[in-house]
Amino acid sequence: MKRITVSKPKNEQILGGGNGDLLEIRDLDVSFKLERGSAQALRGIDLTLKSGQIHGLVGESGSGKTVTSTCIMGLLPMPPAKINRGLILYRGTDLLELSEAERRRTRGREIAMVFQEPAKYLNPSLKVGEQITEMLQLHLDMERSEAVGRAGELLEVVGLPNSRRVLSGYPHELSGGMKQRMMIAMAISCDPSILIADEPTTALDVTLQLQILKLILRLRERFSMGVLFISHDLTVVHEIADRVSVIYAGKIVESADRARLFSEPLHPYTQLLLLSIPDAEKRGQRLKVIPGRVPDAEHIPGGCAFHPRCPLSEELCSREVPPTVERREGHTAACHMIGKKWINS
Ligand SMILES: Nc1ncnc2c1ncn2[C@@H]1O[C@H](COP(=O)(O)OP(=O)(O)O)[C@@H](O)[C@H]1O
Ligand SMILES: [Mg+2]
Repeated sequence: MKRITVSKPKNEQILGGGNGDLLEIRDLDVSFKLERGSAQALRGIDLTLKSGQIHGLVGESGSGKTVTSTCIMGLLPMPPAKINRGLILYRGTDLLELSEAERRRTRGREIAMVFQEPAKYLNPSLKVGEQITEMLQLHLDMERSEAVGRAGELLEVVGLPNSRRVLSGYPHELSGGMKQRMMIAMAISCDPSILIADEPTTALDVTLQLQILKLILRLRERFSMGVLFISHDLTVVHEIADRVSVIYAGKIVESADRARLFSEPLHPYTQLLLLSIPDAEKRGQRLKVIPGRVPDAEHIPGGCAFHPRCPLSEELCSREVPPTVERREGHTAACHMIGKKWINS
């Protein structure tokens, strides 16, 4: 099989100087205008993705993961969404400063995305082959015959056997796992530098989940992409990520290399998330579930947003937003109580 060529950088006019990081989000603040008031979805997110790295973004439902991914893709509906502050640097260039035409060029070619429910994003009336070849013709100016050949290769790369039959069928003829593979094939078709995977395995059963995770790991190796892997499930992130950031109510509360985060979590929220993971060896033991739920973006508590649910909280926590501090090299956390109090498991 012909190897799919990796040719980076591809689009010089939108590639800035850069500082080695593929993607750097700084102080990103996004709100939604509501009929009454507003929802503060992101409250100053900082996140860095390096080439070839898988960065896991983990947090409970409603914490701002999808707002982050759609904002990077330039797909936030504005209005009602409004970007109040921040930068999204891609190879040193702020994506938020690009024109819509430039963003469209970046989308798919430089930064591609797979979603939780691929069925929603596939055209049900267009054959699988047509959808992939159309994308290749549009983005890469390929001749039709070349695009057809490439589509077959891509399906093999993502592990869809019998690609000829798949290409001439419709999306509804594919199983859930196959649809996700097709979505991944489309995402990598233009050889992007960054793949954003927003809960790509959440709708799948455990066996398929593992297969898709293995596929993403393989693709990262082969195409040396940076992957932003989003999930509400810490165990899934543990399987795949090199680095992990924990998001709570629109703010990153802790970020570290995977091993560090799982062995020495600093933030009480991370510690409680880890305690709530089912432990196969202690089956039957009652899980420690974090009391309460993520506040909705219209009613973020003052001070540390986690303080009403936090077993360590003191008066200071309801009054002052904790600063994000680098406790060790590459390990940041935002909590007033670090080093002062501990959670007894
Ligand atoms: N279109 C919208 N209008 C108003 N609020 C929104 C909209 N989209 C998201 N939000 C709010 O932003 C917050 C984060 O949502 P989201 O990023 O989808 O969470 P997650 O993906 O982590 O489950 C939630 O409180 C949600 O209600
Ligand atoms: Mg989401």
